[in-house]
Amino acid sequence: MKQTLLITGGTGFLGKRLGVTLRDQYDVVLTGRNNKQNMHAEQFSGCRVLPMDVANIEAVRDTFTETRPSVVIHAAATKFVDLAERQPMECVDVNVVGSQNVARVAVEKGVETVIGISTDKATPPVRNTYGLSKALMERVFCGMDGKTQTRFACARYGNVAWSTGSVLPMWNKMHQTTGVIRTTGPEMRRFFFTVDEAVQLIVTLLDNIERHHGEVVSRQMRSALIRDILEIWVKRKGGKWERMEGRPGERNDEFLVGDLELPHAYEIEYDGVPHYAIAFNRRSEKPLTEALSSENAVRLTEQQIIELIENPPPEER
Ligand SMILES: NC(=O)c1ccc[n+]([C@@H]2O[C@H](COP(=O)([O-])OP(=O)(O)OC[C@H]3O[C@@H](n4cnc5c(N)ncnc54)[C@H](OP(=O)(O)O)[C@@H]3O)[C@@H](O)[C@H]2O)c1
Repeated sequence: MKQTLLITGGTGFLGKRLGVTLRDQYDVVLTGRNNKQNMHAEQFSGCRVLPMDVANIEAVRDTFTETRPSVVIHAAATKFVDLAERQPMECVDVNVVGSQNVARVAVEKGVETVIGISTDKATPPVRNTYGLSKALMERVFCGMDGKTQTRFACARYGNVAWSTGSVLPMWNKMHQTTGVIRTTGPEMRRFFFTVDEAVQLIVTLLDNIERHHGEVVSRQMRSALIRDILEIWVKRKGGKWERMEGRPGERNDEFLVGDLELPHAYEIEYDGVPHYAIAFNRRSEKPLTEALSSENAVRLTEQQIIELIENPPPEER
């Protein structure tokens, strides 16, 4: 019989695609709050979907009692930077208390493995409430590892291209409706990777959990200057772009591994791709020597940017 794998936030952009990838190997259960989105995720993925609010520990307990998962991928989050600045209470409830709830109930129910999905906004220097909340999730999960049989780890992401509310679908909508793309930060640089690469990072972590439990793991990603993406967009699709006022909490560059984390970080290769692991409370034998920022990362080429902007996943076209 297949083991059960439960994905919190399983009805989101990433969660339902994780469900599609993992459903052959596991009995996958997706969870989310919004019933309309839950129905849609069920149709999209063919996986079982249950309603569950991670901020409510009794709801988490009920769902874990009913489904008895062996593996939990914790993808549920409120992830909009400016919203979290304006509504920090909601952000803490979902991203911090919700993560604690998942961790506590996972331990209580003897879940074997829990993987949290984090962000390059959680690395020092942390600039916004969303990043802080995800940094706390990383600490909670890594700190819980080793205390019981439940293994915890986190995956740290850059921008998943075309994900909900991210720049590419927002620009696409603006471009289609007005021909003008408004942006807060042409001088910002961002890491980008595809949803397939984002899913693969979770699969790699699951396959190598014996090595990486208690750690935050990321992978090599290229970055792009927002202005470069916009110039290529306008050159190929017409229209124009213009600057708008910045939003609270934004920073020009993101980090996969920050300065303060270097002594605890090391590189390891999977499928020919450099990955980076951080163990907060252990010094690395071969530490990284330079922070991995979107400023010093290898840039996406023009051709790679074209592929990024012209190939939204089918559902987002
Ligand atoms: N997409 C990116 O570029 C990116 C980058 C770095 C990290 N991440 C992380 O990756 C994860 C997935 O991101 P995504 O792009 O798939 O986001 P998304 O499309 O916005 O999905 C978020 C999911 O979380 C659920 N959720 C929100 N609040 C919840 C709550 N209180 N209880 C239970 N479920 C809740 C949402 O469903 P309901 O609202 O219906 O509950 C939805 O299923 C998040 O943790 C995010 O922080 C994403």
